[in-house]
Amino acid sequence: MSRIFLDNSATTPLDPVVLGAMTEVMANNYGNPSSIHAEGRQARALIENARKTVANALNCSIGEIFFTSGGTEANNMALKNSVRDLGVTRIISSPLEHHCVLHSLDAIKMAETATVEMVKIDAKGHVELDDLRRLLAASNEKTLVSLMHANNEIGNLLPLEEVAAICEEAGALFHCDTVQTMGYFPIDLDATRLSFLSGSAHKFYGPKGVGFVYISNDNIIKPYLDGGAQERNMRGGTENIYGIVGLAKALELAVAEREERAGKIRNLKDHFIRSIKATYPEVAFNGDPDNAHYKVLSVSFPESSKGDLLLMNLDLNGISASGGSACSSGIDVGSHVIGHLHPDSKRHTVRFSFSHHNTIEEVDEVIAKLGGML
Ligand SMILES: Cc1ncc(COP(=O)(O)O)c(C=O)c1O
Repeated sequence: MSRIFLDNSATTPLDPVVLGAMTEVMANNYGNPSSIHAEGRQARALIENARKTVANALNCSIGEIFFTSGGTEANNMALKNSVRDLGVTRIISSPLEHHCVLHSLDAIKMAETATVEMVKIDAKGHVELDDLRRLLAASNEKTLVSLMHANNEIGNLLPLEEVAAICEEAGALFHCDTVQTMGYFPIDLDATRLSFLSGSAHKFYGPKGVGFVYISNDNIIKPYLDGGAQERNMRGGTENIYGIVGLAKALELAVAEREERAGKIRNLKDHFIRSIKATYPEVAFNGDPDNAHYKVLSVSFPESSKGDLLLMNLDLNGISASGGSACSSGIDVGSHVIGHLHPDSKRHTVRFSFSHHNTIEEVDEVIAKLGGML
């Protein structure tokens, strides 16, 4: 049975072109980028070219990009080090952030090095910008705002330029978790002033375990990982050269093919929405699908005896998707995002997330098979 992968917000398959670029480096470049001999210089050049590709994609300077082990490390680094090194004593964030942000904030609260306040979320799952303005105006403390660009469960999009302008006007730093939007939406850091942002290669058809953090030149922080002088003294440890080369190749392709891929994915999602509404009129969509990332759709199915087994039945039928319901049933660990939006809901939620590799036929098959599982 060939499988249908509709879990592309969790991760994406490695693009064969990216795999080719990585294996070429694995086979031929074993130098340590810190060595001054020819092998080392070759490895260093690969990393610096990759950095240039990322900086070009974001319209920032190459000195502002630091490679990490992924989005989790990038977000930890931005949050914890801006408290440690930049005098931030107050963070404003949202309850719908990814756990790597929320748990970093828990650690900061535990250490009592900064206070954390949560902005209000409206009924559709968007950040209430007036509440953000109110929170920012309420204190003169050095504040960092940390809000994600697109929610990984419901897809809701933050108006990035507007939030950046609000933060700039209030004199606050702005960290944006752009892990879900990197490569999918244009981000111009010369036009939109951010202090920090994060990216993770495996969300845009690159390898797992590699990402990057953008740190604007105005916000010099100290290393997160202590060690050698790698990443211009910002992250000790011999660099993941193949991963970094793969990340850059994947981002280059994502940017070059953005419109084509986006058109295809939008078409699939629209078809999915139309078909599922027509076939199962009692489904509901979480968040605000009209103002969301085009690859994500969170669907709630009415309470039913088979609902708890929905994800397992999808899997048994060759369909991969993610869970996320308000309640914890023992099988489904529950989602803090759906739990926040619909605390009393007993409905069963499935996140479908699409890729340019999916087809209309796959969508039709999923809609047809769902019938027997509800
Ligand atoms: C919004 C968001 N932030 C951060 C992360 C963490 O990224 P990584 O898996 O590279 O650590 C993810 C991955 O699920 C994500 O969706």
